[in-house]
Amino acid sequence: MNRRGGRPRYSLKEATELIHTLPALPYAPDALMPHISPETLEYHWGKHHRAYVDNLNRLVSGTAAANTGLEDLIRGSSGAVFNNAAQHFNHSFYWTSLSPRSGGPPAGPLADAIRTRYGSFEEFRTAFIQQANSHFGSGWCWLVSKPDNRVHIEVTHDAGNPLRSGDTPLMACDLWEHAYYIDYRNARLRYLESFWSIANWRFAQDRFAQSLSRVDLAAAAHRT
Ligand SMILES: [Fe+2]
Repeated sequence: MNRRGGRPRYSLKEATELIHTLPALPYAPDALMPHISPETLEYHWGKHHRAYVDNLNRLVSGTAAANTGLEDLIRGSSGAVFNNAAQHFNHSFYWTSLSPRSGGPPAGPLADAIRTRYGSFEEFRTAFIQQANSHFGSGWCWLVSKPDNRVHIEVTHDAGNPLRSGDTPLMACDLWEHAYYIDYRNARLRYLESFWSIANWRFAQDRFAQSLSRVDLAAAAHRT
């Protein structure tokens, strides 16, 4: 690889090894206003997420890990490869956990599962905000589906990812300061409260439906 004008230039051989790519944002940079600004997205997606992808490609290039899928890397790697693989997954998941058109509350089987676990959507939201706001340092707050289909709020440190513990992520909220510092400075609580105006429940509901169908298939296979 040579560099010109500070921008990386890759040979064809190197380019074929760059298996991980930065996904396009699923909305316009100003679509999440007034909750998340274009400037935040410019830095968060365009610089932070891009750096994780570039780091991951550099780390796995020419190694056996170059042929390993992202989720398998998260489940089976450690150190810098894990950190950058998980941060690539986590950010890709976060962008799709947000939408300018999908505020709450959720509907369907996911809404039922949340009510069963937390009593009501309002009690779930209060618990989510409390756990996310009290988390010390960087990390992520997730809504996950457990293997038995119970839903659960899970907070992970740094690049932590629920796939490591066998859970299915349904929704992600980034707790790193770079997610909110431009728009909210150090007021993580205000960022967490505004998250619910742009939470993509349609995406979470689809993920939960897929999780339910996988369990149904597994149960049917077990019976035969
Ligand atoms: Fe982030």
